[in-house]
Amino acid sequence: MSPADTDPHPHDASDAAQKPSRRRFLQSAAAAAAVSAAPLAHAQQQAATPATAPPPAAVPMMPVKLTINGHPYELQVEARTTLLDALREYANLTGTKKGCDRGQCGACTVIVSGRRINSCLTLAVMHDGEAVTTVEGLAPDGDTLAPIQRAFIEKDAFQCGYCTPGQLCSATALIDEYRAGDASAVTADVRFRPAQLSDDEIRERMSGNICRCGAYPNIVAAVKAVASGNA
Ligand code: FES
Ligand code: FES
Repeated sequence: MSPADTDPHPHDASDAAQKPSRRRFLQSAAAAAAVSAAPLAHAQQQAATPATAPPPAAVPMMPVKLTINGHPYELQVEARTTLLDALREYANLTGTKKGCDRGQCGACTVIVSGRRINSCLTLAVMHDGEAVTTVEGLAPDGDTLAPIQRAFIEKDAFQCGYCTPGQLCSATALIDEYRAGDASAVTADVRFRPAQLSDDEIRERMSGNICRCGAYPNIVAAVKAVASGNA
């Protein structure tokens, strides 16, 4: 009897070639890893290479004509420029103050075509051709203060003064609105103009103007003095 007859698992050379060995498995895995890592390495190499960014496109400017405090201005502004920034940065009228830049404090109040507005909440190009009054334009001339300005001084209606330009513009328009018969949220009978501006009426009508120094009682007193002709 030959040894082959007694071996239950005769060793065949072709079987050995097909059976996975530990060495062949590790070789295959390493090759596969190298293949899958190649695109990643390529991508990383590309990312490391600085891309040539296109130059930023020039922002188009738009013309806007305003009459500010009686003087004509022709400004070239970006379409996104607020009226507040146009006044301060383009027309160089820095009396109007930027407090919150989001319509909450009233420091930026100016009068546009007779109505007081928050200049931080509106675009300059929306007011092309309109008349704007800022705190610099309240006094009738360079030497004489407006009645509301005198009253603010006499009634000690400010401390740091940051809110004061907006308070003055708001108070000026408030008195005009009252004289024109506009009602407010606290007017008892909206069919009739209140006989006089009460403290409640003034507080309500000035409620869009915040004073961090808390000069409110004196501001009310100043507005009341002017509205009643006692200033
Ligand atoms: S800056 Fe405009 S409301 Fe405050
Ligand atoms: S006076 Fe200072 S915030 Fe009004």
